[in-house]
Amino acid sequence: MNPRVLITAEDIDAKLAEMGKAITADYDGKNLLLVGILKGAFIVMADLARHIHTSVEFDFMAVSSYGGTTKTSGVVRILKDLDTQIEDRHVLIVEDIIDSGLTLHYLMKNLRVRNPASLSLAALLVKTGVERPPMEIKYTGFNIDPEFVIGFGLDYRELYRNLPFVGVVDEADLQP
Ligand code: IMP
Ligand code: MG
Repeated sequence: MNPRVLITAEDIDAKLAEMGKAITADYDGKNLLLVGILKGAFIVMADLARHIHTSVEFDFMAVSSYGGTTKTSGVVRILKDLDTQIEDRHVLIVEDIIDSGLTLHYLMKNLRVRNPASLSLAALLVKTGVERPPMEIKYTGFNIDPEFVIGFGLDYRELYRNLPFVGVVDEADLQP
């Protein structure tokens, strides 16, 4: 399976630098809590955070929504909750990709009732032309066509997360 490069490592880093700059300006002096959604967001989180130049804490949540296939099930299970109390905290969720948005929609609802001072969303990739529940994505890296992508934290059956670029694989190579 030979992935075609969709977004190069250089372009990703330049974009994360831009996003980091905006986040630094918006959250300066607010003691930001970054919440990464495992597993996919771990690489975006690590690289984005190093472009943020104000005080930042980290926490992670793990959810499952996909099982082993390439279509979202709509069923979200929290496998690991936050370690941190988020009441009165400024929270920024970091995601690798927003597809159907079902995962995020559920998570935002779940976190909002914990009364954070603010709750916003940053995503490296957003698929275009996909119908999803209304949600404001405060920081978007790239809008991409709704095809299945891998790399930079994104997997197909737990593989390819380590690719330093975002790539596309042939539909024919993806077994359901
Ligand atoms: P959503 O709930 O459909 O927005 O997507 C939830 C999760 O599915 C994302 O956080 C990713 O982990 C995964 N996902 C969605 N699209 C892709 C893709 O194109 N490649 C790999 N994983 C994806
Ligand atoms: Mg994910």
